[in-house]
Amino acid sequence: MPDASAVLVAPSVLAADFARLGDTLAGLEAAGADWVHLDVMDGRFVPNMTFGPPVIAAMRPHTRLPFDVHLMIVEPEKHLEAFAAAGADAITVHVEACTHLHRTLAAIRALGKRAGVALNPATPIAGLAYVRDLLDLVLVMSVNPGFGGQSFIPAVLPKITALRELAGLAGPPLRIAVDGGIDAHTAGQVVAAGADVLVAGSAVFGAADVGGAIGRLRAAALD
Ligand code: DX5
Ligand code: ZN
Repeated sequence: MPDASAVLVAPSVLAADFARLGDTLAGLEAAGADWVHLDVMDGRFVPNMTFGPPVIAAMRPHTRLPFDVHLMIVEPEKHLEAFAAAGADAITVHVEACTHLHRTLAAIRALGKRAGVALNPATPIAGLAYVRDLLDLVLVMSVNPGFGGQSFIPAVLPKITALRELAGLAGPPLRIAVDGGIDAHTAGQVVAAGADVLVAGSAVFGAADVGGAIGRLRAAALD
């Protein structure tokens, strides 16, 4: 189990008001967020569509927080430079969308960005050991990606624990993030299993007080 005080909270703006993104971002640092999680959807890898590099570039001046860009798109390797130029600090690709995962992670690192891999709920961690040196982040999906507000799938908990074991072996520091259905109840479960980044959309932006919601996630991680 990681040091709970080192757990990061990454609000997903998918659940925020897209017409007020600048104001939302401007308040997130004071509200206690560590990263901003940006969900990019293409209508092909997932059924939904959101935004791409131009909108991320427009968001960039409104906060100093790192941009954690979650690409739910096919052929992500074609768009890495555009997301890097738009202001991404970390770029996460889905393993299910990458024929040449090693090459894609190396390309993210060559752009000077942190490299992440996302795993759908049914996807095993097999194979990640072979790209471990290129990985800064694993994003464990605890819902089927595409929409906010879905229920947490507890079957992913043993996968988080297996990843924590992998992270403890040789290699650079590895963050283990969990995305989907994270709230004050499930946050404690995923941190106990080994996660150290909490991605949360509705639990943060569905609350009347964003700072209070982030504080409740952090407190749940310490329980
Ligand atoms: C789902 C996205 C998530 C989403 C989480 O495909 O990757 O980041 O915003 O939303 P909640 O926290 O509402 O489940
Ligand atoms: Zn996400």
